[in-house]
Amino acid sequence: MDIRISAESADGYVGDAVVVGLFESAALSGPAVEVNARLDGMIQRLVDVGEIRGRPFEVTILHTYGKLPAARVAVVGLGQARQADLFALRRAAGAAARILRDRGCRRVGTALHQAFSGPRPEQLVRAVVEAAYVGLYRGEERKTRRELPDEFDEIAVLGVADEHREAASAVARVAQVGGTATNYARRLVNLPANDITPTALAEQAVDIGKRTGLEVEVLEPARLREIGMGALLAVASGSDQPACLIVMRYRGKGSGPQVAFVGKGLTFDSGGISIKPAEKMHIMKSDMAGAAAVLGAMQAVAELKIPLDVMGVIPASENLPSGHAYRPGDVLTAFGGSTIEVISTDAEGRLILADALGYARQQGATHLIDIATLTGACIIALGYTTAGVMGNDNELVEAVLDAGERVGERMWRLPLFPEYRAMLDSLVADLKNVGGRPAGTILGGWFLREFVGETSWVHIDIAGTSWSEENEPHQIEGATGAGVRTLLALAERMAGGVM
Ligand code: BES
Ligand code: ZN
Ligand code: ZN
Repeated sequence: MDIRISAESADGYVGDAVVVGLFESAALSGPAVEVNARLDGMIQRLVDVGEIRGRPFEVTILHTYGKLPAARVAVVGLGQARQADLFALRRAAGAAARILRDRGCRRVGTALHQAFSGPRPEQLVRAVVEAAYVGLYRGEERKTRRELPDEFDEIAVLGVADEHREAASAVARVAQVGGTATNYARRLVNLPANDITPTALAEQAVDIGKRTGLEVEVLEPARLREIGMGALLAVASGSDQPACLIVMRYRGKGSGPQVAFVGKGLTFDSGGISIKPAEKMHIMKSDMAGAAAVLGAMQAVAELKIPLDVMGVIPASENLPSGHAYRPGDVLTAFGGSTIEVISTDAEGRLILADALGYARQQGATHLIDIATLTGACIIALGYTTAGVMGNDNELVEAVLDAGERVGERMWRLPLFPEYRAMLDSLVADLKNVGGRPAGTILGGWFLREFVGETSWVHIDIAGTSWSEENEPHQIEGATGAGVRTLLALAERMAGGVM
C-alpha cells in the first residue's frame, strides 16, 4: 500500500474516494465545506435532515457523479469536538478505511485529520496511517476462500502544508512499518496453536532475521537444561512440543542502553493440571500475544534501522496436562537459582518469564520491558481497552506510558508497593507463583520483579487488550496486535536519547 503525503485539497483529489470529517452538532469546517460546495450543498442538506450527525463510527458515502474528481465522498463522524483526541481520530480513520475497502475502493484520499487543530501534523499523520492498517486487517488466516486484497493501492494524506511535508513523510513510513508489524502480530495470534507451536514461533523469528539482518539464536531443551531454565522446562513438561528460548539481537548502535523486549510465548495455555474451564479455552491460543508483540516490534525496529541496541527474548512453550506435566506443589529452580513453589500450574506465564528475564539480564540488558497476557485479573481491573503497567523505574514506566499514548494504546499504571510481596511468601521455597485472588495483576508483576534485581524494568499486562471479542467498526474481532506499536515508539524514544 502506497502512502503519499500531499498538499492537495480534498476537492482536488483524484481517486475512488475522499474522506472528510465532521464533529457532532458542529458546523461543517475546512475540507468538508469545500466538498459540500462542490456537491451543491448535499452534505449540509443531509446534516439538516439529521441523516448525518457526526457521531462516532458514522460513515456516509456519497457518489459525486463528476462534481469532484474523486468518485465518492465519505463523511465520517468524529464525535463531540470537546472529546476530540487522537484516539477519536484513529477510530474514525479505521472505520472509514474498512468500509471503503469493503465497497471496492482502491485509491483513497483522506482529509480527516484536517478537522483537528491541537496535535502536531506528524501526530495526525501517524494516527491516520496506523489506524488505516489496523482497520484494513481481515484476520481470515486459514479461510480457504479469502477475499483479497486487504489493503488499498494508495492512501493519500491530503492538505499537508509543504513545510510539514518532510517530517510527515518520515512519520508516515514509521506508521506504515508499525502498522504492517501490528497486523503481522495479529496474524500470528489468530493462527491456531496447531500452526503456531513453540518451534513455529522460532521459525518466525528466524524469518525476520533473514528479512532484516538481525541475529537470531534458538536455545533448545538440551541447552535450556544445561543453563538451568527449570521454570520454562517445567511448564513445557506436559506437552510433546519442545520448549525453546528465542533470542533476537538487533544492534542499531553498538553502545548505550541495552534494551530487551521479553514476550510471553505460551502457544497454548490449557492451565495444565490446574486446568481451565472448557468454555473459552480456545482463546488461549492467544497466550503468545506478548511474543507476537516482540516479534512485530523487532521486525519494525530492524526495518526502520532505529539507532538503538534491542534484544528480543521469547520463552516459548505449551501448557498442557499429562503424565509428564508439572504439578501444583512442585518446587522449581529458575534460571539464576531462585526456587519457586507452584500453587497453580495455570500461573505459568510468570514462570517462563522469570527464566527469560534472568537470561536477558545475564546477556547484558540494562532496560527490560516484558509484555505478557499474564492475568485474567487485569481484565477485571482495567477491562479490554487498557493494559496494566508496572515497574521498578519511574522514568522507564513514564516512557512506556508516553509511548502508548502516542500510538493509541491505552495503558494505566498499577502500584508495586512492598506490602504486596508478603502475599507471595512460601513455606518451602523462595516464593510461590500465586498469592490468592486479591491484587492478582499486581502479584503477577511483583513475582516478575523478583527476577529483575536492580535492572530497570517495566511489565505490560496485555491479557485484556490483546484480544477483542467484539467486531468493531475500526477493528475486526480477534487479535489486536497490542504492544507492537508501543514497543516501537519506546525504541524510537530511547534512540532519540529521551527516556
Ligand atoms: N494466560 C492466562 C491469563 C489470561 C486470562 C490471559 C484470560 C488472557 C485472558 C494466565 O496464564 C493465567 O491463567 N493466569 C491465571 C493466574 C492465576 C492462577 C493467579 C489467571 O488469570 O487466572
Ligand atoms: Zn495460565
Ligand atoms: Zn497463560
